[in-house]
Amino acid sequence: MAHAKAGASLPVPNVQALAQTWHGSGEPVPVRYVRTEEIGAGEVVAGCAIPVVDLSRLLDPRSSEVELANLGSACQHWGFFQLINHGVPDEVIQDVKRDMMEFFKLPLEAKKVHAQVPGGLEGYGQAFVFSETQKLDWADMIYLMISPKESRDLRFWPTRPPSFRDSVDRYSAETAKVTACLLRFMAADLGVEQERLLEAFRGQPQSMRTTYYPPCRQAADVLGLSPHTDATGLALLLHVNDVQGLQIRRDGKWHAVDPLDGAFVVSVGDILEILSNGRYRSIEHRAVVHPDKERISAAMFHQPCPNTMVGPLPELVNRDSGGARYRSMDYMDFMKNFFASKLDGRRSHMDAMRIY
Ligand code: OGA
Ligand code: NI
Repeated sequence: MAHAKAGASLPVPNVQALAQTWHGSGEPVPVRYVRTEEIGAGEVVAGCAIPVVDLSRLLDPRSSEVELANLGSACQHWGFFQLINHGVPDEVIQDVKRDMMEFFKLPLEAKKVHAQVPGGLEGYGQAFVFSETQKLDWADMIYLMISPKESRDLRFWPTRPPSFRDSVDRYSAETAKVTACLLRFMAADLGVEQERLLEAFRGQPQSMRTTYYPPCRQAADVLGLSPHTDATGLALLLHVNDVQGLQIRRDGKWHAVDPLDGAFVVSVGDILEILSNGRYRSIEHRAVVHPDKERISAAMFHQPCPNTMVGPLPELVNRDSGGARYRSMDYMDFMKNFFASKLDGRRSHMDAMRIY
């Protein structure tokens, strides 16, 4: 996800409300949500141990070198890792988790005060609905521009619970610090100047998607979030209520991710893949739902500023024998391609960037 003007969604039913009435009905799940074949394609591998990166070990001169190699390997071979000892105070995390859970407990009318408006992406609703016939995800979400502060549209920011805005504000500041730290270490791993990646994320724009996946008694027939790569730099995923559902695609199979308590699941986005000239990988992932537990997750996305040119770092292109593997493009044009390609192929926005 990225800047709100690049693409908008068609209105569809609220899934939390639908799930509540449907659950006791004895009816099969509405056909627009049925994706049995798509989900069943290929087996799902349970308990995927994605690499663990320890931020305190990166910061400690005695272990930094070894941990940096670990970070680099995770970004190159997995495109995903879990970050532990990240230094975000527990209180900040507990507050934001509590407030997100409270928000989704509100009556539908209270949540709808912050509903998406036609032509926009921000607010409470559903993402990526571009046709009246496409299959739908079993989830609702609230998407907010968070940073810089001028980008905030407070119409979409919940006022209930009353602490919501302050909790998100503190969480945003902490995750921005963690991200700046990671981008410096990634630059070191790539062998470029320390601030080089951060420059592409000048002012560190952030947006956040909090997703609510209602339970579904036909969980094997629905998808919570369709397969996608993150069209952003870096995403920090927080498991708000400790129910798992994330799956990543590796060697043609889906692997269920089971993160450690308190870890952030970090996803390398498309923009980092491009900046690193393909050394880092942005990989496909999706979310499934639980038969009787709700699930809430929050992804904090870190993306370039709207008018930044994104392309492989020249230092890396000069070093790589094959030259540039991606075109350079204005970030807004990249996002336009991303939305345009949503219906016809999951990676086609990246295919348009690739030089063969
Ligand atoms: C996302 C995402 C996964 C999840 O919001 O981009 O991948 O587990 N979320 O909710
Ligand atoms: Ni994602």
